[in-house]
Amino acid sequence: MAVLSPELRGEAERIKARYPAGRERSAMLPLLYLVQSVEGRVTRDGLREVADVLGLKTAEVEAVASFYSMLRLRPTGAHVVSVCTNLACALRGAKEVYAAAHDAIGSHAEEMTEDGLLTLHEEECLGACDAAPVVQVDFANHDRVTPERMRELIEALRRGEVSEPSAGRAPRDFKEASWILAGLGDGA
Ligand code: FES
Repeated sequence: MAVLSPELRGEAERIKARYPAGRERSAMLPLLYLVQSVEGRVTRDGLREVADVLGLKTAEVEAVASFYSMLRLRPTGAHVVSVCTNLACALRGAKEVYAAAHDAIGSHAEEMTEDGLLTLHEEECLGACDAAPVVQVDFANHDRVTPERMRELIEALRRGEVSEPSAGRAPRDFKEASWILAGLGDGA
């Protein structure tokens, strides 16, 4: 079954049209976010459809998709909790924050919880080192997170609540965050 409905296929063509003739492959990332916003990850069918929109081989699209940690090729929970454990965050307690997230989520990193709600991801630098240790929930930053705060963020997700991030608005879930990253504005 097609990932993109006829309406979303039209959206994909409009995304492609943002780029000059001959540079259409620059639309690859937003198109990958678009298919991710539908299925909550990028499936083989999604890769094929992005390749079809761009006139590329599926392997060319897969090579890009597999490079970026924001694009998820594996089964993924409704919410992705990413904990930065790189140097600045590690110096300020990120290992303990990561351990708290691991315990609270109760599944291995990169795997989806049995209820399909959560996926834990260990991230490299999120580019916000001054706010270390940094956690993202569906790409929204939470600054200076303690192990206790980490547990609260996960408990809130289990109650169906998305906590306010340190800046901006929290996406409803990973699918909506992907929709926003496709450049399609708020709200899938
Ligand atoms: S090292 Fe964690 S945000 Fe840079």
